[in-house]
Amino acid sequence: MAVIGQDISQAKRILDAGELVAIPTETVYGLAGNALNPVAVASIFETKNRPSFDPLIIHVPSLVEAENYVNDIPAALRKLAEHFWPGPLTLLLPRKSNIPDIVTSGLDRVAVRVPDHPLTLELLAQLDFPLAAPSANPFGYISPTSPKHVDAQLGDKISYILDGGKCKVGLESTIVGMEEDEVVVYRLGGLDISEIESIVGKVIVKSHSSSNPQAPGLLESHYAPTKSFLLGNLETLIAEYQDKGIDFAVLSLAQTFPAVPVGNQIALSPQTDLKEAATHLFAAMRTLDESNAVVILAELMPEEGLGKAINDRLRRAATK
Ligand code: TXA
Ligand code: MG
Repeated sequence: MAVIGQDISQAKRILDAGELVAIPTETVYGLAGNALNPVAVASIFETKNRPSFDPLIIHVPSLVEAENYVNDIPAALRKLAEHFWPGPLTLLLPRKSNIPDIVTSGLDRVAVRVPDHPLTLELLAQLDFPLAAPSANPFGYISPTSPKHVDAQLGDKISYILDGGKCKVGLESTIVGMEEDEVVVYRLGGLDISEIESIVGKVIVKSHSSSNPQAPGLLESHYAPTKSFLLGNLETLIAEYQDKGIDFAVLSLAQTFPAVPVGNQIALSPQTDLKEAATHLFAAMRTLDESNAVVILAELMPEEGLGKAINDRLRRAATK
């Protein structure tokens, strides 16, 4: 098991040595290594079991620092950075040559963000390099939103987890770039599109395709529990599985079901607050994945605000 602690100097020593540390962010925990060191980046892929064609986000402490690694930030994206960094926004920007190919999988753009977490911002400020960090889960599995989640799955492969508590957003960052003069969203995430549009006007959303060459990581099947995960109307699904006599667990937005044992159901937000639901989503999926049930029955959220990003994760988690 890894050591879980709040010692920034220790995290820095490990990273300076080219090894990996799990870091807290407001979205999900990241598996971080020196982004300028191709060997450190390669060990991120190895530790996650991630196909190496999938590019990584680099994390920097500020917009000013970001400019050391990117060229010509388009005006619209600069505005977004100024408004939302630190925060759950990743920008795809033309990369400088100091960013190794292994970070971008050879693409011309590098993904950059300033995470909103005091420990990680302090750590980044002390380092001489940006941190490449994908979510700290084995490839294809649910992203971790607490140190415990990281330890459960990667604890035998890394030595240190920087403990920043539970993630306050709970969904990965929203990924944004430009095509011609248009702002494009490639991954729905913790920053709601309406907030982005309030700064730069209408955007195009391209996050649905299963094999988006701009973001190979946006695979159709992702964020997936190991159990069967079925989406639909909960009343109907529950009746069906009761009839079949198969043990199930239930993931709902707000409703609870008297016929289902308390330990086998989780309501993400009894107040139907979608931000609250987002913060609980991944932890709830893990808890139910560890239950005795054979299948997990879940419902989609209203398609508004963060509901869209939650639904994106639920659809990708669903058994095909
Ligand atoms: O909130 C987050 O973004 C978290 C925290 C740790 O920062 N990170 C995260 O990283 O979710 P990851 O690797 O799990 O997802 C990054 C996504 C992938 O789908 C990848 O394909 C896409 O970003 N991506 C990264 N660099 C890219 C690039 N240069 N061009 C296009 N897509 C890119
Ligand atoms: Mg991920």
